[in-house]
Amino acid sequence: MRLRHIPGAEEAIEQSPYVIQEPKEMKGKWDSVFGNQNPIHIEVGMGKGRFIMELAQRNPHINYIGIERYSTVLLKALQKREQLSVSNICFMCIDAKELGEIFEKGEVKKIYLNFSDPWPKDRHAKRRLTSPQFMAVYDQVLAADGDVEFKTDNRGLFDYSLESIPEAGWKVKEHTFDLHNSSMAEGNVMTEYEEKFSSRGQAICKLIAVRTDKEMKSEGNK
Ligand SMILES: C[S@@+](CC[C@H](N)C(=O)[O-])C[C@H]1O[C@@H](n2cnc3c(N)ncnc32)[C@H](O)[C@@H]1O
Repeated sequence: MRLRHIPGAEEAIEQSPYVIQEPKEMKGKWDSVFGNQNPIHIEVGMGKGRFIMELAQRNPHINYIGIERYSTVLLKALQKREQLSVSNICFMCIDAKELGEIFEKGEVKKIYLNFSDPWPKDRHAKRRLTSPQFMAVYDQVLAADGDVEFKTDNRGLFDYSLESIPEAGWKVKEHTFDLHNSSMAEGNVMTEYEEKFSSRGQAICKLIAVRTDKEMKSEGNK
């Protein structure tokens, strides 16, 4: 994504009540941020945040955290957030590789990855959000029975993910190469990118990944 510098973006984010300013200090204490023990779902790379804000409105008993590493992009989400009257969503301006320093193991119940940057060059593979490196980060924070939901229009990235996720010791529980014409479409909430690509006739791929039984058992024994 090409980013335009927006003067004042950093300041607006630093002053926003909807952005967690020192997320590492909240590790193991996220219930206190929301004032309840409802499950926490996060979206990594939320962009302008349409998807996660829609979910927050539909599901008041789930706490949502939108993660975006660029302040200029997060600013757009904040402008929308100010128009909502829900209390179950906040944001963080961080790189997802830091998630293990921000959440305790098991503190996150679900991770959404939507239209993640494809990083097509082989030498950039570890930057892909479904690379074994990132799956290991999700493993540090996700509950034993938690899952990762990934949507993309990019067939190359999707085919890569169908291989990289099992290589990382996870199982692809369900997948489709044409989400909108599949049984996985029920309850689907479109993202900004999903709307754009599907309106051009591009099929959307989706998968749901879970730990293998072996790993879930070993975590249960901890
Ligand atoms: C292509 S956009 C998709 C936005 C949105 N999820 C959608 O579907 O409309 C991907 C977003 O992920 C963010 N992103 C990519 N890698 C990230 C990382 N490691 N940590 C946090 N955000 C990341 C980018 O800055 C960008 O805003």
